[in-house]
Amino acid sequence: MTAAPTLAHTGATLTAAAHPAITPRLVVPGAADAPLGLDAEHDLGTYLPRVYDADPAVFLDTLEASGLRGRGGAAFPAHLKWRGVAAGEGPRVVVANGEEGEPASAKDRWLLTRRPHLVLDGLLHAARTVGADRAVVYLSHPETVQAVRTALDELAADGDERAHRVEIHTVEPTYVAGEESAVCRSISGGPALPTAKPPRPHESGVDGRPTLVSNVETLAHAAWIARHGAEAYRAEGTDTSPGTTLVTLGGACARPGVYEVPLGLTVRQLFDEVGGGLADGVHGVLMGGWFGGMLRHDHLATACCYDALRTLGSGLGCGAITALGTDDSPLRVAAELSVWYARESAAQCGVCVNGTKAIRDTFARLADGAGTADDTGRLARWGQTLPRRGACAFLDGAATLARSAVTQYPEVFPALP
Ligand SMILES: Cc1cc2nc3c(=O)[nH]c(=O)nc-3n(C[C@H](O)[C@H](O)[C@H](O)COP(=O)(O)O)c2cc1C
Ligand code: SF4
Repeated sequence: MTAAPTLAHTGATLTAAAHPAITPRLVVPGAADAPLGLDAEHDLGTYLPRVYDADPAVFLDTLEASGLRGRGGAAFPAHLKWRGVAAGEGPRVVVANGEEGEPASAKDRWLLTRRPHLVLDGLLHAARTVGADRAVVYLSHPETVQAVRTALDELAADGDERAHRVEIHTVEPTYVAGEESAVCRSISGGPALPTAKPPRPHESGVDGRPTLVSNVETLAHAAWIARHGAEAYRAEGTDTSPGTTLVTLGGACARPGVYEVPLGLTVRQLFDEVGGGLADGVHGVLMGGWFGGMLRHDHLATACCYDALRTLGSGLGCGAITALGTDDSPLRVAAELSVWYARESAAQCGVCVNGTKAIRDTFARLADGAGTADDTGRLARWGQTLPRRGACAFLDGAATLARSAVTQYPEVFPALP
C-alpha cells in the first residue's frame, strides 16, 4: 500500500468509547480496549441459539423495520441487499468485509479486535438468513486476522461446530481491495481489483454465486437486531437514520479515536461531546473518510444523518471525520489527498487513470500558487462529470474532493470569470 497522507488515522490507539447519552450496543463495558471473550459474549446473548431458530423471512422483515443501512460506505438498506441474495439461484456466499482500506478509519479494526464474536454472530446469522453454505471473513490487517482466528478457535473449543464453517481470506491492503467486486474477485482466486458492473455481487459474486458482501459493522448491528428487535434498534438515532454507528474522529481535535454515537448528532456535537472538542481555528472537516469530500465550518451544525449530508453532496461513508486545523490549508490538503488518489487508482479504467492524475496535477499547480481560473473551472467540471464513469466508485471520491474543495472554499481558488 502506498504511504497514506498525514491526515490518515494511524489506529495506534485502538480504544473506543460510547457517547455518554446512549446504552452502547457495540462499545459495551469491557470491550473498549481489550477483546471480549466468548464467556462475556455469551453473557450478552451473542450466539443465542434462538437467533438461529428464527424464520429467515421474519428476520428479513425485522431488518427492514430496523432501517439498518450498510456501514461500509454506500449506506445501502441492508434488508434489500440480503433479500436480493436470498432470492438468488443456487448456492450462495456471505462475506464479512473487514478490509478497511480507508486511511482515516479505524472502527472496523477496533470492532474486529475487540468484538470478533459479534461480527461472527452477524455473519453466521446472515448465512442462515440468505441460505448461504459459505461464510468468509475478508481481512488485511494482521491484528484483525489474529483476533478472528482466536475467536474461531474459542468457538470451536466451546463445541460450536459453526466455527468450522467460517473461512478467513486475507488480502494485501490497498484502497480498492475493499470494494465489493474486488472482494469477490479476490476470494474467487483473482486479483483484488474491481470488476465492471453489472453484474453486482448479489447476482454473481464469489465463483459466480449470489454473494452478500457486508461491512463487519453492519453485520454486528444485524446480530444485535436479531436479539433485541427493530424497535429497540430504533430507540437511538432519527426516523430516517436509526440506530447507533461507529465513527472515527481524527485531525485537529483533543481526543481522536473510535466512538459509538447515535446517528443524527451534528458534526460539532460529535467533536464536542466525545472527541474532546475541536482545536482553535478548525475551518472544516473531511467527511466519510475522504469519500464525502470537504465541508467548511459553516456546516458543522449539519446532522450526521444520511439525508442531511446527501443534501450537501457529502456523506457519512465509513464514519470517519477528520477536523482540518490551522496547519491544514484547504489547497494543501486537497493536493495531498489527490496525490494519494492518483497513486491508489487500480489503473484499470482510462478515465480513472487520467482523471485522478489530472486532478492531482491541477491541485499541485494551485497549491504552488501557479494555478489559474481555468484550473478552478476544470476542477468544478470534473467534479460534475467524472462520478459514475469508472468501473467502481473510487473515481467518484476523487471527483467529490475536486468539487467540494472548489464549492466549500471558493476564496482560496482563482476566481472564475
Ligand atoms: C474504492 C472502494 C473501496 C471500498 N472499501 C471498502 C472497505 O474497505 N470496507 C468495506 O466494508 N466497504 C468498502 N467499500 C464498499 C463496498 O464496496 C461495499 O459497498 C460494502 O462492503 C458493503 O457493505 P455494507 O452494505 O454493509 O456497507 C469500498 C467501496 C469502494 C468504491
Ligand atoms: S474506477 Fe479506478 S479504481 Fe475503480 S476499477 Fe476503474 S481504475 Fe480501478
